[in-house]
Parts: sequence; structure tokens; C-alpha cells
Amino acid sequence: MKNSKLIENSMKNANDPYLLIKWYWFNYFKKYWFFLILGIIFMGLEGSMLGLLSYSIKSMFDEVFVPSNQSALISVGLIIFFIFFLRSLAGLIQRLIVTWVGQKVEKSLQQNLLEKLINLDIAFYDKTSPGILIERMRVDTRLITSSAGTIFMTLVKDGIALISLILVTLYIDFKWTLIAFIGAPILIIPIFLLQKWIRKTSIENRNIEADLSMSLDEIFHGISILKLYSLQTYRLSSFKNLLEKVRKIKLKIEGGVASTPALIDFIAGIGFLGVMIFGGSQIVSGEKSIGDFMAFFTAMALIFEPLRRLSNVAGNIQIMLASADKVYNLFEEKVIFNKNKKVTYVNKNINFKGDIYFKNVTLIKGKKTILNNITFLIPSGQLVALVGKSGGGKSSILKLITGILTPSKGKILIDNVDISLIDPQVLRSNISVIMQENQLFDETIYENVKIGRLNATKSEILNACNLAHVSEFTNKFSEKLFKKVGPRGSNLSGGQRQRVNIARALLRNCPIFLLDEPTTALDYKSEDLLHKAFKQVIQNKTVVYISHRISSIKNADKIIVIKEGKILEEGKHNNLIKNKSLYYDLYNLHKIEGKSE
Ligand SMILES: Nc1ncnc2c1ncn2[C@@H]1O[C@H](COP(=O)(O)OP(=O)(O)O)[C@@H](O)[C@H]1O
Ligand SMILES: [Mg+2]
Repeated sequence: MKNSKLIENSMKNANDPYLLIKWYWFNYFKKYWFFLILGIIFMGLEGSMLGLLSYSIKSMFDEVFVPSNQSALISVGLIIFFIFFLRSLAGLIQRLIVTWVGQKVEKSLQQNLLEKLINLDIAFYDKTSPGILIERMRVDTRLITSSAGTIFMTLVKDGIALISLILVTLYIDFKWTLIAFIGAPILIIPIFLLQKWIRKTSIENRNIEADLSMSLDEIFHGISILKLYSLQTYRLSSFKNLLEKVRKIKLKIEGGVASTPALIDFIAGIGFLGVMIFGGSQIVSGEKSIGDFMAFFTAMALIFEPLRRLSNVAGNIQIMLASADKVYNLFEEKVIFNKNKKVTYVNKNINFKGDIYFKNVTLIKGKKTILNNITFLIPSGQLVALVGKSGGGKSSILKLITGILTPSKGKILIDNVDISLIDPQVLRSNISVIMQENQLFDETIYENVKIGRLNATKSEILNACNLAHVSEFTNKFSEKLFKKVGPRGSNLSGGQRQRVNIARALLRNCPIFLLDEPTTALDYKSEDLLHKAFKQVIQNKTVVYISHRISSIKNADKIIVIKEGKILEEGKHNNLIKNKSLYYDLYNLHKIEGKSE
């Protein structure tokens, strides 16, 4: 098999089954112990009725049919009816209980998992695709609870049915029972090997299914690109390949799971034959009654279904463990910011107007050095601009300030406090930020602005929308500010999206503003108007502004020129022009651009 190496690895890394079961039991199932016990009682009732039923067959023959006793017919018939009735009632109740507990657990699993994932570091999202996470959140959590439910029901209900039926066979004849089960020990080793194989294949299955979700996620997110480059057939065929893989694996798992009952059937056939010959002769000789024989065979016939399901339990456990393992691993992901670490500033009143100081900061991602030992100061209350060619590391600097990225070496200090010691929530509540990535949710424009500060009043929100010239274009919509922006803002133009982002940042109005090319999609005139709006709001605030338009940052208190992860030069506009270095080149380029517009 092609990816068998990979599977071997995922098997090796799979968590110990006992640890997984213990973890899920204590965290999720234990609190429902009362309902589980109630379920066990009704399952026991349902299961044991099978034993009673097969035993009542004996009376049917020995007391009604053989002696041709009409009067006993009704009473024996009523007993059998009552047994069926109890069985159906108990079956209904126990299923309801199991479903109820299962749904409760599934809900809290999904809730907790999302809570966990949402708080994980961006680095985690860099290595894990949303498609995989959706698969884990929706499918794996459901597989855990539904398999757990099936396993529990089978173990208890079918276990008790099996015991009650075996008791009946033992009661009728010990030797017959022995003969019937003579082949059972032969099954132990093949069943054990089969379980190992099922687990391996299930893990493989969960991996490929996650790939499928990832592929779908990429297709739907990139639908425009896909169409523009006519990649439909290409993506479709790779998706088909994955589907085909899943189909084959599922077939293997089903085959594996179904093999155990098949083995059992085979062995049982031998047992049947034995009892038939041995028991049959005892009846002919009059040693045993026909009722004994019929009851024994009814019990034997009834044993198969529960036995078959019980033999599936081990396979189901393996399927459940495969999902349980994946979900557990997500719960075990480390949040980089450690709440137990000594947090100096949990108090929101820290003077966030303090200077932001990068001290010998290096940022390495994988093998790439994104920032290389940089040191600079962003003085409190000043506007500092970052300029340089794209890919230089400007956006990464902003992400470091927000704590979304953490330095590989060196320190970032605000007011002489290492920001790794500040609770990220406190840190971020002091930052208004506009990032380059899409920042819109599929809500109304109004909601999207409001996200900036959830407790803002309506008039504050309207004011921010006016300042950012959002109202200017929303007035043309019939829904005004309440138009939905569409998935990732697809109903708005690039410039409109940027204005919504700006309105949000203005509404948030924090002591620190981080603006990453906030106006690139706007024409010069609109940009100018927005700068004027900004100027009022950001007076006395600390602002870090990234722009490739020199006109936007010419008046900055300080300009830092970044090249390939290093600081090339820094200072005021006029001084940098005199340097005749990169800034000077960018300025000249910009002048040419500006003229042509
Ligand atoms: N999560 C990441 N993992 C690996 N490399 C990254 C990551 N984010 C950015 N980079 C790389 O870091 C470099 C700097 O990126 P960025 O800070 O966005 O530059 P700028 O904003 O100046 O264009 C780029 O070469 C980019 O490819
Ligand atoms: Mg950038």
C-alpha cells in the first residue's frame, strides 16, 4: 500500500487506548452515571427477556402441544406476549436514554473543542487546514458518541441476553451446551488480529476523510480562482481519487468488521450439528423431552444475534478510538501563552501609551528567517511608518506586537514590560488593528463594524461609519448599513471592505493603532479623505502604519525602512531622502506612479 508508512507512523503516535477511554469517561460521560445505570437496568430487562422467551418455549411444547392441553394454551400464550411487551418497552426506554446522553456529550464535546481551538495560537492554524478542523469538529465528535452508545448498548443488552440464553441452555443440558460451544476457543487469535487490523485501517480512513474535507474547503474557498484557471476537471479528478480511496478503505473496514460474525457463524454451525446428533438421539431414546430440545434450539438460535453484535464491539471500539485519538490530540494542543506563567499585567489600567520596544527580535518560521535581529523603538504617542518591499517582514512585525506571533529570539517590551508577560486579551484590548487578510464575517456591515467594540452605542457606530466613508456607499443599498457582506465580504468591493475595516478600527479606538496597508484598494482621493478622518482620531495615540504609498507616511514622526527582515534605515522623511538609499528609490518610484494617476 502506498501510504502504509504514514499509517504505521500514525499508529505509533496513536494514544494509549486506556488513556483515551479514561479521559473521555472522566471528562464527558461520568457525570451522567445515574442515567447510564438507569440505561443498564432497562437494557438488562430487554436482554434477559430473550432467555425467558426461549425457556417459555419448553412449557409451550411440554405443557401445551405434547399433552394437547387446550386450557394451558392461553396462559402460556399470554406469558409469551407479556415477555414481548416488556422487551419492547424496555428497549424503547433504554434507547432514549442512550441517545439523550450521547447528544449531551456530543454537544459539550463540540462546544469545548471549539473553545479550545479558538484560543489556539495562529501557528497552529498555519499548520492545520480549516477543512480538517471541521471534519474533527463535526464528524469525529459524532463518531465518538455514536460508537460509544452502540458499544455500551451492545455490551450490556446483548451481554445480558447472551448470559440469560446460556443459562437456559446450561439449565436444559450441560453437555449439549459444551458441544455447542466447543469450537469457540479457536476464534480468539483470529479475532484479536482482526481488531488490530481494523484499528489501523480506521485511522487511515479518518486521515483520508479529513483530506477530503480539506480538499472541499479549498475548492469552495477558491472557487473563483478555480474557474479562472479552468481547474474544475483537475480538482474534480483529485477529489474523485480521494473518494475512491475512501470507498476502498470503507469496504475493507466493513469486511473486517463483518468477518468476526462470519467466523462465529461457521463455528456455530459445527456446534449445531453436534447437538443435533447427540441431543437428537437422547430424545429418540426418551431421555429428554421435545420441549427441552425446542427450548435449547430456540436459545441457540437467539444467541447468534447478540453474539454477532458482541463480536463487533471490539471492531467498533477500534473505530471509536480512531476518532477519539484525533479529537484528544486537538484538546492536547498547547496554547503558547501559558496562563500559569507569572503574568505581571492582568490589570487593564496599564499605561498602554508606553513605548513599544523591539529588542534584538528574530522571527524564524520553519527554515525561513523572517526577521533577523532587529531593534527599534516606537515612541509613545507617535506615528511610526514601516516601509519596504513586500515580503520584507512588515506585517510580521505587527503580528508580533499583537502577540499573534511570538519572537524566536529577543523581546518586545511595552513600557518596559515583556509582552509575553501580558495576558494577550489585555494586550489586544489595547490595540486597534487593520490586517491585510480578510477580516469580514458573513454578517451585516453594521455588525462587522460593531465587532470593533461590542458595547458601542448605535450613534458611535454610525459615527465611525461616517468617518470611514462607509455610509457614503451604503446609502446606495436598500438595506443601508444592514446589508450582508457575504462570505469573506464577497458582496463588497475591495475598497468598500477596507472602509468597513477602517470604521471598525476607528470605533475600537484603542491607545495603539496598527494599520497594515489599510487603504491600498482606494483611489488617492478617498485615501486622502480617510487620512483626514484618521488624523482626528489618532492624535496622541501610538500608531504603526504600513504603507507603500510614500504620500501616506511622509509626515510620520519616524519612518523605518525594512528590507529582507532587517532594518535598512530609519528617520524622518527628509533625512531618509538625503540618504539616497532604498527609501529614496521608493520615493522616486512613487512620484512616477502618482503622476500617472
Ligand atoms: N506563517 C508563515 N510561515 C512561514 N513564512 C511566513 C509566514 N508568514 C509570512 N511568512 C514569510 O515571511 C516573509 C515576510 O512576510 P510579511 O511579514 O507578510 O512581509 P510584508 O508584510 O513586508 O510583505 C515573507 O517572505 C513570507 O513568505
Ligand atoms: Mg504585508
